[in-house]
Amino acid sequence: MKKLIIEGGRELSGSVRIGGAKNSAVALIPATILTKGKCVIRNVPDISDVKILLEMMHELGSKITYKDEILTVDNKNVENVAISEEYASKIRASYYFMGALLGKFHHAEMSCPGGCVIGSRPIDFHIDAFKRMGAHIVENGGNYKMDAAELQGRDIFFDFPSVGATINVMFAAVLAKGKTRIINAAREPEIANVASFLNSMGARIMGAGSGTIEIDGVKELGNGEVDVIPDRIEAGTYLIIGALLGRDFKITDIVEEHIYSLISKLKDAGCNLKVEGDVITINKTKNLKAVNIKTTVYPGFPTDLGQPMSTFLTQCEGESSFEETIYENRLRHIPHLNNMGADIKAFDKTALIRGRTPLVGRKVKATDLRAGASMLVAGMIADGTTIVYNIEHLLRGYEKIVDKLNNVGANIRLIDE
Ligand code: UD1
Repeated sequence: MKKLIIEGGRELSGSVRIGGAKNSAVALIPATILTKGKCVIRNVPDISDVKILLEMMHELGSKITYKDEILTVDNKNVENVAISEEYASKIRASYYFMGALLGKFHHAEMSCPGGCVIGSRPIDFHIDAFKRMGAHIVENGGNYKMDAAELQGRDIFFDFPSVGATINVMFAAVLAKGKTRIINAAREPEIANVASFLNSMGARIMGAGSGTIEIDGVKELGNGEVDVIPDRIEAGTYLIIGALLGRDFKITDIVEEHIYSLISKLKDAGCNLKVEGDVITINKTKNLKAVNIKTTVYPGFPTDLGQPMSTFLTQCEGESSFEETIYENRLRHIPHLNNMGADIKAFDKTALIRGRTPLVGRKVKATDLRAGASMLVAGMIADGTTIVYNIEHLLRGYEKIVDKLNNVGANIRLIDE
């Protein structure tokens, strides 16, 4: 079990570089299964979700090198073995093996994907789309067996623009017969990143990043290369920390457009921040004002930043509201914030946060990945020492976070016991 011990109240000066996006990397790695060509993926973040995916690729027979954030993949000898439950249950993104294996081999076997316990997180959109494209799927106690004589391009409409289902349908469609159209596709930047990787291999994907994506199936794919885009959720988390503790604090390798929703809310709260190209300078601001946050799909306020933002709102004068619209259970961190001195009333998927309340160091738990980020921010601004248990969740998604923060003045220890 890993825990963080945080001495609060340290100002941060200097610069932090944002790494590659977790949610891109976890899709780009399984995407390589679709080609026998060689692939190069640059700016791959050093996080535990990536390590698990690389182990899964190894099980399939993939030859991989990973050095200095550059991943080279040679899948010439990849075999289509069943993905073991042990791996699938560790990581939500294991669902990408369904689309990639089905697209490549017309056969996939694996159990339900794991991931953070933030709601029911069904995969019915993925399964329905594969069926519509010609797959025969049998589910038995959470194990899926999928077969297709051939996959046929179809029109796929999603009731909700799901990130995972959009990418999975792209995987199933790139080698399918004919044209696939995804209508009400997710528009998150990670989707365009994955499409540009597949197109570099010779796929024909148009419109990724918009609500309608068209994919003309091709016979085979060749070599591919891509740079993982900067992680907008990591960037957003550092912006929130900088707004509370920065003193000439710079965050580099940011794509402003990708986190405009957060920047706009921070400005509304009165934050002092300056954007210069891909660098943002952000400093601690006194007299922050309450703002209302409602999470939604891109380009709206990201659900993955709702929890760290709720910690920020405890430091704003007046009553802020934080409404989560994507998942059912994204308020499990609230009792821990209240335990540290916050004044938050949680109702179903909305929290009313009354500020400004000083926070004090306590023993708290990271109930999921982004709740871990919320607790980290809380510990950094609290008076005294905070211990955050179950911090494995945080390390799944934030690259070298303890080193990055200590390098700019934080006092955080990661203890493995
Ligand atoms: C991805 C991200 C996650 C982020 C989320 C929303 C990855 C690996 N994870 O998760 O960090 O929080 O997007 O931005 O990229 N839904 C269904 N049926 C489905 C699929 C989804 O009902 O088949 C619902 C979900 O229950 C949820 C919503 O759609 O309410 C969003 O899900 P989705 O966009 O698919 O998120 P994930 O791919 O799980």
